[in-house]
Amino acid sequence: MLLKMSAQKKICSFVFLLTIILMFNAEENEEDGFCYKKDGVSECVSLQNFNLTRLDGGQVGDITEIFLQDGKTLQMETLNTRPLVFEIPDFLSDEECEHFINVANNIGMKASYTERQTTQKGISLMDINSDKKLSLAEMKLTIENGFDIYLEDEDVIEMYKLMKIDTNNDNFITQAEMKDFSPQKMANYLSDFLKEHPEKHSRYSKQAWLYPDQSTDEVFNLVQKRVSEVVQLPMSLIQLSDFQVVNYGINGHYNAHLDSSHIRKEQQCCDRGRYSKCRICRYMTILFYLNDVDDGGETAFPFANKDSINHTNSHLNRVQHLYKKCHEVDLRVPAEKRKAIIWYNHFIDESTGWMGDIDEYTLHGGCPVKAGEKWIANFWIKTNDEKSIDLDKIKNLLMK
Ligand code: OGA
Ligand code: FE2
Repeated sequence: MLLKMSAQKKICSFVFLLTIILMFNAEENEEDGFCYKKDGVSECVSLQNFNLTRLDGGQVGDITEIFLQDGKTLQMETLNTRPLVFEIPDFLSDEECEHFINVANNIGMKASYTERQTTQKGISLMDINSDKKLSLAEMKLTIENGFDIYLEDEDVIEMYKLMKIDTNNDNFITQAEMKDFSPQKMANYLSDFLKEHPEKHSRYSKQAWLYPDQSTDEVFNLVQKRVSEVVQLPMSLIQLSDFQVVNYGINGHYNAHLDSSHIRKEQQCCDRGRYSKCRICRYMTILFYLNDVDDGGETAFPFANKDSINHTNSHLNRVQHLYKKCHEVDLRVPAEKRKAIIWYNHFIDESTGWMGDIDEYTLHGGCPVKAGEKWIANFWIKTNDEKSIDLDKIKNLLMK
């Protein structure tokens, strides 16, 4: 009897175990493949056949209703088509916004610019027209590239005066004048200057990082699932992305930049936490506004709808200097609590279904905050040029 009982028990636990294994397999298969709703119909693809997706924007002003699995509905509006930018009001709840601010505060917000500044080793003089002297514009560019600091003409002239570089005061630095020029001295000068003028940085903000695949936070997890449903990408790709919470105070801003880089097969895409000798590869950006900004703080796209991008002079016409030029930009998205905006930093390569050319029209940045403060969070969907690298990463993640 006892034996029978235990045999029965064994059978029971075997059936139970089998169910669990089957359940896990089902889940894994579902994750391994990927299902999403397209025009109300559920579509599933296996990872091998999986390509990057790009939502159809239609025309500016078009609104797409997105029916989420949890029963909620989101309204996604096409804000712009070149570059393609979507806006989804109320993507997050008030509680979710506040949660991310709290989590980031608990991790500890750090100045956004320190990483690049401390890794700065040397500078290259930007003698664009090869006349063997630096004009004010060329010196500004030298400082922008070397130190990530955006000066005005009068700031450079003041620096020449205090450092006694421009001996004949003609606002040009010749080779002879350069002889006494020491990058270290200049770095010291600029470092003191920045203490007085932190807004001259290309980016003036604080930040904290969250890594979706390392997080057990339920709120974060639900937001990742929502993102996955909305952008129609597998949850694993969302989990491999980076999430950054950013806080801007008064004058806080981020000059215009691309979130990703040109495809260059000879240089690898950066892995998380490794930012030297590699380039940043991000297929798309999903940006959330976590509070209402009293004045300023819009996200601006200076190249939006321009006929062409003037490459020859774009580094000298300083279109990226949003701290000064935000009001000149046509496409500016106001920072409104709970809202998400989405754009694609890259097109899709038709032949591979994966990362294609960068979309230079996505150049964007954050306008200065004039009153109040601004909190945002970004999902950067990181993908490699080569699909196989990402598929391997996804498989590793699913096996964990
Ligand atoms: C960024 C960014 C824009 C903004 O964090 O990469 O572009 O509006 N932010 O703050
Ligand atoms: Fe950005």
